[in-house]
Amino acid sequence: MPCLRPALPRWLAPTLLACACATATAAPVWVSMDEAAYRVLQSQRLDHDATERHVVTAFTAERTARQDTLVILRADDDQLHRLSLAAHEALHRCGGFMVHESREDARRTVAALQQHAGGERLRALATVPSYVIDDNAQVNALLPQLQETQILSTISKLQSYSNRYYRNAVGAKASNDLAAGWALLAAGRSDASVSQFTHRNFPQKSVILNLRGSVAPDEIVVIGGHLDSISPNAVLSPTGKAPGADDDASGIATLQEVMRVLLQSGYQPARTLQFIGYAGEEAGLLGSKEIAQSYAAQGRNVVGALQLDMTAYPGGSSDITLISDYTNTAQDNFLAALASTYLPSARVVRDVCGYACSDHASWTAQGFAASFPFEAPLGQDNPHIHTPKDKPVKFGNSAAHAIQFARLALAYAVELGSDSGPAAR
Ligand code: BES
Ligand code: ZN
Repeated sequence: MPCLRPALPRWLAPTLLACACATATAAPVWVSMDEAAYRVLQSQRLDHDATERHVVTAFTAERTARQDTLVILRADDDQLHRLSLAAHEALHRCGGFMVHESREDARRTVAALQQHAGGERLRALATVPSYVIDDNAQVNALLPQLQETQILSTISKLQSYSNRYYRNAVGAKASNDLAAGWALLAAGRSDASVSQFTHRNFPQKSVILNLRGSVAPDEIVVIGGHLDSISPNAVLSPTGKAPGADDDASGIATLQEVMRVLLQSGYQPARTLQFIGYAGEEAGLLGSKEIAQSYAAQGRNVVGALQLDMTAYPGGSSDITLISDYTNTAQDNFLAALASTYLPSARVVRDVCGYACSDHASWTAQGFAASFPFEAPLGQDNPHIHTPKDKPVKFGNSAAHAIQFARLALAYAVELGSDSGPAAR
């Protein structure tokens, strides 16, 4: 089944679901998809009903409004499977649809995106932090402790599973092993603990390392990446190869290195820091969606979320590309300021994904401030993702690019983590 990464401009879809989805659900199901995928469905004369359209306006960092249409409809498994294949042919990408439990669930997701697509309208309870950079001594003392070799060795371990697909036992084991590794890093710190978040509809668990804040434990700063991987081969068989070295072993390895340095140095944050390896991202942001929804429902105060998804491939004319749709502009600007302070030679640019392309969007949809620094401008990023070729050799067996993201994430963790309470007005 040819299901490679999208190669054409990817217009807004709340989640572009990889081809796996069609085989993964019971018929009939509710789905939402972007207009391009819907046109493919029509051209293929695939059966569906109850079609309704919703317009979503997203804003880029330049405040340019982008209007896109999401279509909600009901179809069955078989039709969706055929849509996946047809969309790959027609659009050079996967199916581009997200599966929902009911029409109401689909509408709720689309409504959340309509409300929060700009990334600016935050939940009332979420603390708007100070973005003043004032922990230079501490950050500068920690930065030299980050090691490329550590990042590379974590990538190497993660890519050695046949795959980390969210529905099979290998993918579940990859999560369990990651949790065990993080527990070793947390050992010896009474303020750190590791847990796994069990998801409703699939066996792979998300992994959470919690470093409790000493002053404001209820204010949470999240640094996340996705631990799952995908390829057509992995969808078909647990032995199918989906190394996912860049997508997204690199992000997990990057955040794990930040975690290691903070824990081993004895750094104690004022706010709680949570490092999260999300399950099921490749199937439609499933793990992060459930976590962000659960945090919102419990009234948790997520001050900021940083997403690390693909950090290793030095594809382009820039070092760090700040994705500026479905993200929070104030926090994006803070990241740009952190980069110029702590990575003065890094070239930082902004670009848009065009749709909710990674787990940051799950936080955005719940009204939390989220950002997504990415490895390259779109179109210059790693072309091998979602295939058996996503291996470290494609980024020169080097973490030289990724370590810049570790520096940025460490600066983010310490500058936000050392404060508490809302910014003075
Ligand atoms: N790492 C990618 C997202 C990505 C790829 C961003 C290339 C920018 C450039 C992520 O794992 C992914 O594959 N996302 C899906 C969408 C998701 C909702 C299933 C995608 O982009 O197709
Ligand atoms: Zn991916």
